[in-house]
Amino acid sequence: MAKKVVVEANINGEPIEFLCEPRQSLLEVLRDVLELTGSKEGCLTGDCGACTVIVNGRPLCSCLMLGVEAQGKTIQTVEGLAAPDRLHVLQQKFLEHASLQCGICTPGFLMSAKALLDRNPKPTEAEIRYALAGNLCRCTGYDKIVRAVADAAQTLASGQQPAGHLGSGPSATEQTERFLQEQEVK
Ligand code: FES
Ligand code: FES
Repeated sequence: MAKKVVVEANINGEPIEFLCEPRQSLLEVLRDVLELTGSKEGCLTGDCGACTVIVNGRPLCSCLMLGVEAQGKTIQTVEGLAAPDRLHVLQQKFLEHASLQCGICTPGFLMSAKALLDRNPKPTEAEIRYALAGNLCRCTGYDKIVRAVADAAQTLASGQQPAGHLGSGPSATEQTERFLQEQEVK
């Protein structure tokens, strides 16, 4: 086994130190070392976008980056999106627009969309589609996802909190479970 390397990075706002082998991808480190399994393993060749995370403000396929390259970087994963008591507006809008079915692609879409809205808060539909072009969805299709991102941008621009986004309401987990139950009975 190759000698492990100590890596220091900031992940979801927390300074983190971890050990990884030089051959391990960032995706492998996130899922298998840090137990952040929100980033999904699809193709492992940079084609599907299911593993997308934000590194120093840019969306990147974590399957194409080595864990050791995270040294000194700031990384956001889907686990860092929701606040403890409420979903991120993008997550809320994905639920409201039924922008997911199996959900495998969803973390990647959310992170690509977050990176877009962080740098361009008022994107056109064409800009949304372009920003999400590296993310593939095999079951929901793209229109609902694009609508959710446009709606999230509008909500953020207006300064409104989306419905169900208040501390006294159901938690992020409860809202997601409720949504998935509703989908099962349809
Ligand atoms: S798993 Fe990384 S792009 Fe598909
Ligand atoms: S929701 Fe299943 S692949 Fe997108």
